[in-house]
Amino acid sequence: MRLFVALNLPKKERDRIYRASKVLRERELPVRWIEPEHYHLTLKFLGEVTEERLDGVQKALDHVAATTGRLDLAVEGFGAFPTIRRPQVIWVGIEPSPALRCLKQDVEWALMGCGFDRETRAFHPHLTLGRADAEDGAGAFRGLDDTVANLGYQGQVMVRKLDLMRSHLSKAGTTRYTLKHSTKFGG
Ligand code: 2AM
Repeated sequence: MRLFVALNLPKKERDRIYRASKVLRERELPVRWIEPEHYHLTLKFLGEVTEERLDGVQKALDHVAATTGRLDLAVEGFGAFPTIRRPQVIWVGIEPSPALRCLKQDVEWALMGCGFDRETRAFHPHLTLGRADAEDGAGAFRGLDDTVANLGYQGQVMVRKLDLMRSHLSKAGTTRYTLKHSTKFGG
């Protein structure tokens, strides 16, 4: 099964982000927009994990959550990877606060203990709102930079649990996420 570790935001905030990003969806860009129920912040992508490793992963995450306090997240502004002119992922950013960075490191260390490779890429916390098809050229996104620049967003949420999520890829290319395991922060 394809798994990742994530933080899920309260429904109220996800709906608020969805409403605030309506302007982007209305531009009829070649983007597959994600439903707000699927918005999440990925802390660690595990890829395919066998059933035998699941228990170890869950225990490692339980340990991290037990030593972590609930987390205040600041949601701030829209953007895109790799660039706004040729986007592949359109996102809303999360402030990389010391507490969030600390949690990310704890998750990395805990999962290294279960045999997973450490992430070497920089941590850019975000919620993916939509994915663009790679073959669409920069022309399709003309003006998106201005739209995003004029679209401020700020939100503040508290997250109380660490989630292990499963990603289900359909043949049609759509993705659905389900909760596999969840642990309340106890620190
Ligand atoms: P993204 O939202 O930035 O695309 C489930 O697929 C989650 O894991 C998504 O949030 C996705 O991040 C992330 N993800 C998918 N493949 C990944 C990979 N190879 N490396 C890191 N994160 C990945």
